[in-house]
Amino acid sequence: MTSEKRPLPLMRSVLTVPVIVGRFIEKAPGSGADVICLDLEDSIPPAQKAAARAPAAGAIAAMPRSGFTLLVRLNALTTGLLEDDLIAVVRPGLDGVIVSKTNSAADMRRVDHYLAVLEREREMAPGSVAIIPLIETALGVRNCYEICEASPRVSGAVFGAEDFATDIGIQRSRGGEEVRWARTQVAIACHAAAIVPIDTPDPDYTDEAHLEREMVLARSLGYQGKLCIHPTQVAIANRVFRPSDNEVAEARVIVEAFERDGLAQGRAAIPLEGRMVDTPIYWRAKRLLEWASGLK
Ligand code: GLV
Ligand code: MG
Repeated sequence: MTSEKRPLPLMRSVLTVPVIVGRFIEKAPGSGADVICLDLEDSIPPAQKAAARAPAAGAIAAMPRSGFTLLVRLNALTTGLLEDDLIAVVRPGLDGVIVSKTNSAADMRRVDHYLAVLEREREMAPGSVAIIPLIETALGVRNCYEICEASPRVSGAVFGAEDFATDIGIQRSRGGEEVRWARTQVAIACHAAAIVPIDTPDPDYTDEAHLEREMVLARSLGYQGKLCIHPTQVAIANRVFRPSDNEVAEARVIVEAFERDGLAQGRAAIPLEGRMVDTPIYWRAKRLLEWASGLK
């Protein structure tokens, strides 16, 4: 299944926007975010859930359609709202849906089925709408790998620390030690399924130093993007979730030295600046250079 997955372009910054606030929608395309996510879920008060669908559909039809990927965050299957959310938003221009509080592979298969029916009805290419599960319950974390592999539409997954903490009855700390295990599990499950891991939103949108530290930590856990709840977080995510100039320079030195003094000489390990460089280190450097060149 892995090779058939529907790829989405870069998802370093996924900016969620409450779909009922017109001025936020207007500003979103200028934010620089790789992905804009129209939110029908937790930023919409319960009384406005139904009324939020029309502006979502209107925004999909009206938004400029280049320079970013366009997603909608749906209400969870258990709310009974997801079906009508889908009926409203599956239309040309929609790249994918984020499914809140995904608990199981069966949830993904159900959304996949709904999408297949709606794509056909609306004359959209089969499989054109991607699914990104939001893993934010104890059950979701437990079933994460199966969720990621449940449909070829699943092209990324988001870890949601806020709902996860609520679900297991714990408080959130600034360092996030209490969610580290779950956060790591989600990133590893995504890599095992060859999809993009996107890190939890951070409610702080003013302390840029804190946000940068948090995103650097997320990247070190394997994450490739961040759910952003405010435009100030976008530039930090775009900067952190890409190789820095120093990393690129260091990778170039490793690749050149290993190819020249290692591979060309029939050796699988070489000393370089006081440390040993062997095959996995070479490949890590090669992949970082490929990643960097894909971003230009
Ligand atoms: C995101 O939805 C979260 O609950 O953290
Ligand atoms: Mg949540």
